[in-house]
Amino acid sequence: MDGNGRWAERRGHPRVFGHVRGSSRIKAVVRRADELGVKVITLYAFSTENWNRPETEKSTLWKLLIKFLKKEVDELDRQNVQLRIFGEVDRLSVGVREVLDPAVARLAKNTGISLNFCVSYGARLEIFEAAKAFARACLEGRESPNGVDQRAFEKYLWTSPLGECSDVDLVIRTSGEIRTSNFLLWQAAYAEYVFLDICWPDFGVKDFDGALEEYSKRDRRFGKVSSK
Ligand code: FPP
Repeated sequence: MDGNGRWAERRGHPRVFGHVRGSSRIKAVVRRADELGVKVITLYAFSTENWNRPETEKSTLWKLLIKFLKKEVDELDRQNVQLRIFGEVDRLSVGVREVLDPAVARLAKNTGISLNFCVSYGARLEIFEAAKAFARACLEGRESPNGVDQRAFEKYLWTSPLGECSDVDLVIRTSGEIRTSNFLLWQAAYAEYVFLDICWPDFGVKDFDGALEEYSKRDRRFGKVSSK
């Protein structure tokens, strides 16, 4: 969800104004994804690097996350949405956890689209933590480096509850930046990327549809000669 700060600054507003507007774009996109039969949608809300932002900006982001959850949890439940958080949840404040944990627990029983927020998330950290957990399991005799394959290793990643759906098909990045920024690097190994010149606060259902249309034209060969 990139470009909130620039979107606001270009309009002469403080950066946090962009986050407020940005958080209001989420609901419609999730609903559209669900309508179209998308099984998993994962939004990058706060990276491990974002901890270096000013306190005021960070506290606005936490307030927006809390507000979103309080306001939308009933509707998400009605829509049968599953909610998960990927990232360093232990670093979040008690105030955030008090809203987040019950929301995740309440929606855990659902069977519809998986909505995931990456919060205090970094792909390198995720892979590093998985490697450490795997090494620990080997030392304790629960795993062996000889027996493990890549799929079995994936159970140590934060995205493991998604099972086979953890492989990313499409990454949409807004704001005109053309980089991956430490997002789902393992899971997106064979993802298609769509980079859009608009900032996240301007992103809507039409742009989402457009990105999916672009995706549908891609020839996904997964390293083979033909996709057939
Ligand atoms: C990137 O734009 C966006 C973020 C770091 C925060 C995204 C968060 C929200 C949209 C709202 C809060 C979250 C939820 C789940 C309700 P940027 O600030 O890096 O923009 P810039 O590159 O223009 O500075």
